[in-house]
Amino acid sequence: MSAEIKKILEEIKKQGREVLTYEESRKIIDLAGLPLNKMALATNTEESIEKAREVGYPIALKIVSEDVIHKSDAGGVKVGIKSDEELKKSYEEMMVNIKKHYPSAKVEGVSIEEMVEGTEVLIGSMTDSQFGKMIALGIGGIFTEIYKDVTFRLIPITKEDVKEMMNEIKGKKLFEGFRGLPQVKKEELTNLMLKISKLIEENPIIKEMDLNPVVATEKGLITIDARIILE
Ligand SMILES: Nc1ncnc2c1ncn2[C@@H]1O[C@H](COP(=O)(O)OP(=O)(O)OP(=O)(O)O)[C@@H](O)[C@H]1O
Ligand SMILES: [Mg+2]
Repeated sequence: MSAEIKKILEEIKKQGREVLTYEESRKIIDLAGLPLNKMALATNTEESIEKAREVGYPIALKIVSEDVIHKSDAGGVKVGIKSDEELKKSYEEMMVNIKKHYPSAKVEGVSIEEMVEGTEVLIGSMTDSQFGKMIALGIGGIFTEIYKDVTFRLIPITKEDVKEMMNEIKGKKLFEGFRGLPQVKKEELTNLMLKISKLIEENPIIKEMDLNPVVATEKGLITIDARIILE
């Protein structure tokens, strides 16, 4: 696993790139042992419909473009699409929205994804110029930047660190399962955080990682958005 991760990251650097594509970011997360939702890429409406039938409705549709950093801000995320018709309409609307928000964006295509709903958690990593590699845990989802409810630790972390981090989050009640939403299982989150810590420790070439959200469902924690940037 770790040898393959290293090989992929080195290859990307060799190509002179720092920002991993959505697919590459997901591949690294997968190799690190974190569960992801089903996903397929498409480059036109016909192909999207074909892939959506494979993934199975309802699906989520997302723009895939290196130039679009905040997808949902630009109308680049549509969820709960239930039919070919709805998908065709959503696809066309999305392309119009993206053109409006990012007129010069190079669009690689769209991703067709299995729907995953639950309690949204943010997990990330960054490199501090003074302290080095840090791991972040917080309230996830599209309101992350409004709440700014995130806590940090130096990598590598221990089980005890994760316990403390969970306690430091102001909205920690959300993790306990709020208003019928699934609970974030402590042991599962701890295992996942330790895997991320190990991934970054073994691959310091990773400058930044953003897993937002990782969704707590009845079936466990599933990552549905990933972005990795290299040094
Ligand atoms: N597969 C999915 N199933 C259910 N809901 C989803 C799915 N994908 C995205 N969403 C919802 O849409 C929100 C935004 O999606 P996502 O995180 O992929 O885009 P984004 O955060 O706008 O992009 P970025 O992280 O690049 O800023 C998620 O927080 C989630 O609520
Ligand atoms: Mg996101």
